[in-house]
Amino acid sequence: MYKTILINKNNKFKESYNKRLDLIEVKNYQDNNILIDKETYEHFKELRKELLNYNIKIAIDDSYRSIEHQLELKNKLLETYGEEYVNNFVAEPSYSEHHTGLAIDLELIDVEDDLKEETYKEVHKFLAKHGFILRYPKNKEDITRYAYEPWHIRYVGVVPATIISNNNLTLEEYLNDFSGVLYINKPIGVTSFDIVNEISKIFGIKKVGHTGTLDPIAEGVLIVCLGKATKIVELLTAKDKEYVAGVLLGIKTDTFDLDGKVIDNMPIPDKLPLEETIDSFKKTYLQQVPIYSAIKINGKKLYEYARNNIEVELPKKEVTIKEIELLSSEKTTFMFKTLVSKGTYIRSLINDICTSMNVFGTMSMLKRTKQGKVSIEDTNTIEDIKNNKYTLHSIEEVLDYQVIEIEEELLKKISNGVKIKNTFNIKDKVIFKYHHKILGIYEKDNDMLKVWKNFI
Ligand code: DAL
Ligand code: ZN
Repeated sequence: MYKTILINKNNKFKESYNKRLDLIEVKNYQDNNILIDKETYEHFKELRKELLNYNIKIAIDDSYRSIEHQLELKNKLLETYGEEYVNNFVAEPSYSEHHTGLAIDLELIDVEDDLKEETYKEVHKFLAKHGFILRYPKNKEDITRYAYEPWHIRYVGVVPATIISNNNLTLEEYLNDFSGVLYINKPIGVTSFDIVNEISKIFGIKKVGHTGTLDPIAEGVLIVCLGKATKIVELLTAKDKEYVAGVLLGIKTDTFDLDGKVIDNMPIPDKLPLEETIDSFKKTYLQQVPIYSAIKINGKKLYEYARNNIEVELPKKEVTIKEIELLSSEKTTFMFKTLVSKGTYIRSLINDICTSMNVFGTMSMLKRTKQGKVSIEDTNTIEDIKNNKYTLHSIEEVLDYQVIEIEEELLKKISNGVKIKNTFNIKDKVIFKYHHKILGIYEKDNDMLKVWKNFI
């Protein structure tokens, strides 16, 4: 269960979540035993410790509540304070995030009543650093549908809490509207999908997508889109990519790289026309898709045909090798650098280069050094992100399209994806924003603009 799980007046805590909770027993400020999520408590202790440096003493009043407990509480408060109070401050049983053990009602120790408000404000400044958010802030009542509760904090994890706090969001807004792009440096040995899963976990966001797969053997630039930015995955996947690749001569594997099985070998000729051959590949040609790839034929992935020893005609795709340069060569190996169009398989390019020199060659390393305008120097590692030291990029930043902040009269049309006149003289695509929020990306359609992706 993600620590960002949303429980509010519209999102019920389901019975089945109970077995995914990780609760421990601790003492509250009155020395009663209470339950709390384990990770939440670890972070609470850090928060409490840091606040002591500022002479602020906090303790837990309440954290986990069973559904029965919430019912009891609601009835008690209903009797004492009436319906309006309960509506503003108390969730219905099954609709309280206290059922997760991720919420804490704080108690301030030794603080006079008239200093409480001020003290809470001090506490709030330290929440994000320890992975907490103020769950029901002032001026967001229309979104959270609860009144301001300065004592109720919620653990979501340091990365989401920092974004939520820096952008003055509620958890609802973060989960529904968030968009961002990460430039990741993928290490060798993991799949692109592993990276997507890790990022999804760290940010507590389900919608995450990568742009252009890097196999486990490969490392380097992997652009990952989060939330609403997943809408632009295909635009980023289409960008040119730059690679540095290494080749081992004399052997042939089933996958065209060293992760595969060796299926043949041969002695390496003394003199290979490496330089000329590599230069001659600076061209557009029809490249045969490698059998070990996820391209689908008749609904089945090519590698599934290979694994089941079923013959299949491999499709050919037009690719352009825009730049290619030999970097170094030795008796059994060589390295080159290349800039290629979308969909080019470097292991196939290596196979093609070697075939035209009548020698076997297998990809021994691959590093993506650039995708579009994103260079390896611009990337963060997964560790950087876990340590909350990374750069989050915006959709506007990664795409090179014009950004237009529209006037109110166009708001309805663009929000609804209606065609509009191309009075802006757009040649390709345009990003329309209103009050700093992306409404949609439009594209040229004769003398009109039509919606390409709606972001509402
Ligand atoms: N006070 C919050 C809304 C709850 O009862 O869960
Ligand atoms: Zn609470």
